[in-house]
Amino acid sequence: MKIALIGAGNVGTVLGKGLSNLDHEIIFGLRNVNDAKYDGLKDFASLKSVAEATKEAELIFLATPWSQTKNAIDAMQGNYKGKILIDCTNPLKDDLSGLTHGFDTSGGEEVAKWASGARVVKAFNTTGTSNMAAPEFDSRKSLMLIASNDEEARLFVKNLADELGFDSYEFGDLSSSRYMEPFAYVWISLAFKQGLGVDFAFTINKKELAHQ
Ligand SMILES: NC(=O)c1ccc[n+]([C@@H]2O[C@H](COP(=O)([O-])OP(=O)(O)OC[C@H]3O[C@@H](n4cnc5c(N)ncnc54)[C@H](OP(=O)(O)O)[C@@H]3O)[C@@H](O)[C@H]2O)c1
Repeated sequence: MKIALIGAGNVGTVLGKGLSNLDHEIIFGLRNVNDAKYDGLKDFASLKSVAEATKEAELIFLATPWSQTKNAIDAMQGNYKGKILIDCTNPLKDDLSGLTHGFDTSGGEEVAKWASGARVVKAFNTTGTSNMAAPEFDSRKSLMLIASNDEEARLFVKNLADELGFDSYEFGDLSSSRYMEPFAYVWISLAFKQGLGVDFAFTINKKELAHQ
């Protein structure tokens, strides 16, 4: 499958590599294709403008800083229409002291307004990139929650997350982003404020599994 990743930072790079390992064709959509810092990505991906990458792609990942997310969507020039757009972002305040949205809307719902006509799925926002690179801990797998108003798209992304090595759960419609984004903040706070570091993941423990 041709997959565009918009944002080639921590998240975009790790997910791009993982998806490339699953034999998908990776296209990074960049603001500046000639920036030398992206040269290493050419080993497993092609580099294009945001408009070109999203035009060619069948599936789009959005992994930009929140403050740039609307600009990145605008730069797609509508090429998301009818396509699954996976929103990996978190609406973090610039000083990382909290979230800019919650209660009556969420980043995921704002993305769906800005990318009207896309099949928006909220996913890959609730854990760190070390877990995206290696989701498995001994016999346990990192939790991944998937929310969307589009049931088919939600199931598609759940299966993709499972293929990447996560223990994935469908988590309701896109308004569930109102819970997933604060949940991401719990991970961020434990990692960076409480000193746990980035090498931990949330998992689901089910009693019946514990007895197997
Ligand atoms: N880091 C994590 O562990 C983690 C985990 C889950 C979710 N998230 C969320 O995922 C998002 C990305 O995080 P990150 O850590 O990967 O950020 P990052 O390392 O700062 O990378 C952001 C990328 O977005 C690109 N970008 C910025 N503005 C853009 C625009 N207008 N158009 C196209 N590309 C643009 C940047 O490229 P240039 O500046 O070079 O143009 C850069 O490649 C954030 O919303 C974050 O909250 C992060």
